[in-house]
Amino acid sequence: PRPRRRRSRRAKGKGPRAKEPRKTGEFKVCVCGGAGGIGQPLCLLMAMDPNVKELCVFDLNVAMVPAQGVATDLGHLEKKAAVKGYVMEVGQKPVDNLEECLTGCHLVLIPAGMPRKPGQTRDDLFKINADIAKGIVEACAKYCPDAMLGMIVNPVNSVVPAMAELYKKKGLDPMKIVGITTLDVVRANKFVVRLPAPPDRVNVPVIGGHAGTTILPLFSQDKHAKTIDAEKIPDLDKHVQDAGTDVVNAKNGKGSATLSMAYAGARLGKSVLAGLAGQRRTECAYCKSEITDLPYFAQKVVFGKEGISKVLPLGELNEYETKRLEEVKVQLKGEIESGLKYAEENS
Ligand code: LMR
Repeated sequence: PRPRRRRSRRAKGKGPRAKEPRKTGEFKVCVCGGAGGIGQPLCLLMAMDPNVKELCVFDLNVAMVPAQGVATDLGHLEKKAAVKGYVMEVGQKPVDNLEECLTGCHLVLIPAGMPRKPGQTRDDLFKINADIAKGIVEACAKYCPDAMLGMIVNPVNSVVPAMAELYKKKGLDPMKIVGITTLDVVRANKFVVRLPAPPDRVNVPVIGGHAGTTILPLFSQDKHAKTIDAEKIPDLDKHVQDAGTDVVNAKNGKGSATLSMAYAGARLGKSVLAGLAGQRRTECAYCKSEITDLPYFAQKVVFGKEGISKVLPLGELNEYETKRLEEVKVQLKGEIESGLKYAEENS
């Protein structure tokens, strides 16, 4: 018998199905470092997300502008988010000051710490930035232990393992803490030029870590990027690896990437919230890992109702990427170990 063809709604004389409005979440988000160079545009982008019901802008009293000022400013957007500012004096402890700000948070984005100056590596910032991150993470552990934490604190490769291990020691889930490496993906997508596809139709996974050779874009896994000539890939790969340093040098001692980092942080933050609201999203993020022999790795994760609902396998790597992965592991291993040592000595 011939298979019966399904008739379209139009053939049945019916109009198009009315679109059901997507249910939006009612989430509380805090940006710690929200009045800084990354923090302000990050707060702007998060305040525009329909999943955000309440946005808390927290920063120190020495930030570029008072956090309450950022909050009052953003509070005038014609968006649903109610915005509140919280300021803390330098030298005070977040755990003594952030109870109201963090309680009930579903997502805490942490663009905090010192930026690089030309000539510095991300690793040079470890001690000072790990101490700053620790204060905030301890406050999150106390007031919003179920929230997802997105860290934009360099060196991400060491700070995230340090903080996730501190969470583990407190009996909390280390998978709640992710390092935001989305800017590497954004850059790889942008640098795949000369193709018919606009950059936002390109999606190059970037795995490994977030510093130098640990940044490994998998051009072979994107349908547009994989058409690039093999001999052009090493330069493109290096361009992505060096992109953060290019911004540091272009800003000439006045900071590192802020606007593109905020864009990337918001992309990750919105994916986390979409996942919590029941619309699963896949992103690359640096977190606890079992997909290689390293305990932390930037990998493809699926955000769902409980945060990270699934870690995806590496997928197929070509010969160049397989060789690069070995190089990634050598550098990343040492940087993870610094983080683990910090957690050991500071818990
Ligand atoms: C970046 O990738 O732009 C950031 O990690 C900042 C930096 O120091 O490069």
